[in-house]
Amino acid sequence: MRFDIVTLFPAIFDGYLTQSLLEKAINKGLVEIHRHDLRDWAADTPHRKVDDRPFGGGPGMLLQVDVTVPCVEDVQQMAQEPPRMILLTPQGKRFDQPMAEDLALSKRVMLLCGRYEGFDQRVVDILQPEEVSVGDFVLNGGEVAAMTIIDGVVRLLPGVLGDENSSVDDSFSRGNRLLEFPQYTRPREFRGHTVPEVLLGGNHEAIAAWRAEQSRIKTQQRRADLLDP
Ligand code: ADE
Repeated sequence: MRFDIVTLFPAIFDGYLTQSLLEKAINKGLVEIHRHDLRDWAADTPHRKVDDRPFGGGPGMLLQVDVTVPCVEDVQQMAQEPPRMILLTPQGKRFDQPMAEDLALSKRVMLLCGRYEGFDQRVVDILQPEEVSVGDFVLNGGEVAAMTIIDGVVRLLPGVLGDENSSVDDSFSRGNRLLEFPQYTRPREFRGHTVPEVLLGGNHEAIAAWRAEQSRIKTQQRRADLLDP
């Protein structure tokens, strides 16, 4: 799967791209990530200006249509496969597990990261990207949101997680709308906190029943909206 990221701050992704899971996926050839610096499409060197004040007044600066659209069009041509184009914005459709599962089926995804007050509206009108938000809060730009999407999608690709870390039992995956049950490892006791007895007995039916019950209780307490959407 190929990701093309359009951003003013390509270096933000440096650490993330070299962390273990993603680096392994890249080295195995399962994922390709290409970053494109929007400033490379700015016309007026040496300032390489990409933004300007909004018509009608108001705070902040907008990313300009005459820089962004040619950039995106050029990036689109850099591979055969036409990309699913996503523009990160707090005004977008909320990113969730079904969207991650759907994106994991595509061969190529392009992520447009806004900064400042966002893009000139004509970027959206002309390119018609899917507008996506990672939550009801405002980030300083789309970069962290883009990493969130890549992270959520890449772990669903076959071969990325080992069998021992399969994603199929995840909360929210494939219709699973329960939060995960609590888990324990050694030591059996720490500062008087012990592991629930049922997990130590080796009765797999009892363990499964306990876990299902714990999932239900946790979901009821924290996210009742998932039980009764
Ligand atoms: N850019 C700024 N805030 C954002 C959010 N919540 N989701 C996606 N992109 C953003």
